[in-house]
Amino acid sequence: MQNRVKKIGVFDSGLGGLYIAKALQQALPEYDYVYLGDTFNVPYGGRSSENIYQLSENAIKALFEQKECDLVIVACNTASVSALRKLQREFLVNNYPDKRILGVIVPTLESATELGATQIGLIATEYTVRSKIYDEEITKITPSARIFGVATPLLVPLIEHHGEKYMDMVLQDYLEPILAEGLDSLILGCTHYVSIKDRIRTLTNHRVRILSQDEIIPPKLKTYLLHHPEMEERLSKHNEFTVCATSVNEGYARNVENIMGKKLPIQEITY
Ligand code: DGL
Repeated sequence: MQNRVKKIGVFDSGLGGLYIAKALQQALPEYDYVYLGDTFNVPYGGRSSENIYQLSENAIKALFEQKECDLVIVACNTASVSALRKLQREFLVNNYPDKRILGVIVPTLESATELGATQIGLIATEYTVRSKIYDEEITKITPSARIFGVATPLLVPLIEHHGEKYMDMVLQDYLEPILAEGLDSLILGCTHYVSIKDRIRTLTNHRVRILSQDEIIPPKLKTYLLHHPEMEERLSKHNEFTVCATSVNEGYARNVENIMGKKLPIQEITY
């Protein structure tokens, strides 16, 4: 058995992935996590594929090299959509064949399928919806299922800039055409939306099943680690949780505190 010295990295464009990291820590508290939010470059949603790929590669390299991570979860849907395949097939294979990078799209769709979903709504950034990756991947998992994707670009700015009072109005507008489609499930395909999942459940009157990645990714990681003892045996177990960001300011520190329920030191990282 190898020494347990490696950590689990969680990467996101900014803040939203922290909900996923927190859920991972709650479900699997024994491991050590390093969260990296690329706050200097957020938002990713309106960027080019080349740009998102490069930003993602840089961030993951920093988690591998500076933060001793051997397993990185790309919590950001936009980065998973744009960069994951190339990161796994080229960057990892050529540079870090023993390390692993996992995304959120396939686990989310697997989970939807396990719950019997076939008429699936998706709300996400413009980039994620336009990419049609969710549509492509679902046909490999459940060919009879379909994705009805709606870009919801106003939600991230409202969440990040405390626009709560406008939220219901905007959500209602976005959700109306989705509900009219008679869907059985709705994927919240952006990490930020974890923060408004209860609101969405209320606004949809529980008529559709809301699939939120903070509930999906932890059991999927548990299963992954069970099936990959060669990775599990490398992971350190000190119950540590480190938060890093490429640019730290007071607003970010406050948001981190709100999500985590306590003040945490935030390391500014450069790479
Ligand atoms: N975290 C990103 C996602 O999950 C959304 C925010 C952004 O545009 O950077 O898609």
